[in-house]
Formats: sequence, structure tokens, C-alpha cells
Amino acid sequence: MQSKPPTGGEPQPPNPYNLDIAADLFDDLHQGSADVQLVLELAREAGGPILELACGTGRCLIPLIRAGFDVVGLDLAPPMLERLQTKVSQEPEEVRHRATTLVADGSSFSLPLRFGLAFMVADAFGQIPAKQQQESLAVNVFDHLRAGGVFVIDTFHPDIHRLLERGRSERTARGYQVVSEDIDHDRANQVFIVRTSYSLDGHTVSQIEWPLRYSFRFELEHLLEKVGFTIEAVWGNHRREPVRDDTRRLFVVARKPSQDEPLPAEAMEAVALVQT
Ligand SMILES: C[S@@+](CC[C@H](N)C(=O)[O-])C[C@H]1O[C@@H](n2cnc3c(N)ncnc32)[C@H](O)[C@@H]1O
Repeated sequence: MQSKPPTGGEPQPPNPYNLDIAADLFDDLHQGSADVQLVLELAREAGGPILELACGTGRCLIPLIRAGFDVVGLDLAPPMLERLQTKVSQEPEEVRHRATTLVADGSSFSLPLRFGLAFMVADAFGQIPAKQQQESLAVNVFDHLRAGGVFVIDTFHPDIHRLLERGRSERTARGYQVVSEDIDHDRANQVFIVRTSYSLDGHTVSQIEWPLRYSFRFELEHLLEKVGFTIEAVWGNHRREPVRDDTRRLFVVARKPSQDEPLPAEAMEAVALVQT
């Protein structure tokens, strides 16, 4: 269990929550696929191979390999990847061989491959609560993209009032029920500590506790620009609509510059002045 980060200090990286239950519940609770269509479109536009950071149980990875893309999926949590591997093993041979999975931390992996598209969706970026670790992840992704490659982060658009709502109750396909949800807000560290109790047939089976660091739109833009990306777009939903007050998501699309990208016109003018 993760304890609340000390006030004023940099929060510690997540202590993987009760992973077996989390992985089991994850499949039931997160079956939405609106963002999967967008990921498929982005993959067609950018070209493979594709890197999915924090791929979980394969909600996006499976549709990608079915669509013909070679995908490396990495995740910190072995139970998530075990469920993913079971799904992959049920695919036909020609689809199966397109998936490679890796137990790894997104901020410290190293692969001998350069990707056309890297992405991290469904708030996974917020599960990395330490600022330095988030930056290392952005640098690492930059280094693993080929020139002109694209990195997409999808996270929630922070709305402080909604995030403090409590007591959601929700039955899932396998009979788990969220019996209570309790959120501590550590505003100094921009971290929510979410504690969710689950019951199965009326008996409490587990409490999952996970930290979620929220990022604001321009914070993400600054971070990605700092490590060398160019921000190409920020969308408020999977339909590529602009961010508005009431849009729920932040899809930040960042591109690694092409090696032969021309210098901006102002820089060329400055060079010309020095030469004359
Ligand atoms: C909310 S799930 C999202 C799964 C998947 N992206 C999806 O959309 O279905 C978050 C995932 O992030 C993973 N994760 C958290 N921190 C990570 C890190 N530093 N490196 C890699 N994976 C991480 C967790 O293990 C979990 O599987």
C-alpha cells in the first residue's frame, strides 16, 4: 500500500498497488474503446513499429496487432502483462508474432529499436508521480523515436471539482463492486491518492490505493518541448476537437523533429546578419 506523500516533498514513485486484483478489475472496468479508434488512426498516419507505454492488459495493443502493426507493449506490472499475453496467445499465428511485451518502467527502459509512434493513454502518465521520473520518461521516449516520430500522451483534463467527488458505485462484469471511493488531494504535489474498496458478492475483497498526478495542458507542453519535441496538436477528446472548458481529456501530440528540418525563418535571418 502506498502511503500519502509527505506534504511539500516530491511524491515517491507508485508502489504497485494490489496488482492481481487491479489487473483483474481493470479488464472489466476499462473496456471503453473510443480512444482505440484514435490510436489506430495515429498508427496509420505515423507508421510502425509502435511503442505502447503502460499497455496494461492490451486494450489498445490487441486492436493494433490485429490491424497489422508491430507493437512493443511495456508495463511495470507483471499481472497486467500476463493477462495481455493470454489474449495474444488466443490470436492467429500471423497476428501473435506482431506483439512483444516487456516488464519495464517507462522512464528507464532501453530497446534496440526506433519507433514511428509511441503512446501512453488512459491516465497512465499520471501514475508516475515524481516529476523527475516523468521527465526521464519523456527523454527516453524521444530517444526511442525515429526522426519525425510521434509521441501521444492522453490524460484527463483536470477539473478540481469533479475529482473530489466521492462514493461512486459501479458493478462490473465479474461481480466486483466498487463500494467506496475516497480521494485525498495533496495539492502541493498535484497528486490525488485514490483509495477504492471493492467487494465481491457482498464481501470486501480488497482496497486499492493509487496515486495520480494531474498535469495541466501547458505543463505537458512545456515538458515535451523541453526534451526536444514540437507540439503538433492538443485535443480535448478522441474526435480531435479543441480543448475547451468542458472537454474531459488532453491528447497531447508531440513530434520529434526530422533531422533535416529547416531552421525557422528568424534563425536564418539572424545567421544572414552575422554573415554580412
Ligand atoms: C490505467 S492503466 C492503463 C492501461 C492501458 N494504457 C489502457 O489504456 O488500457 C495504467 C497502467 O500503467 C502502468 N504503469 C504505471 N506506471 C508505469 C511505469 N512507470 N512504467 C510502465 N507502466 C506503468 C500500470 O501498471 C497499469 O498497467
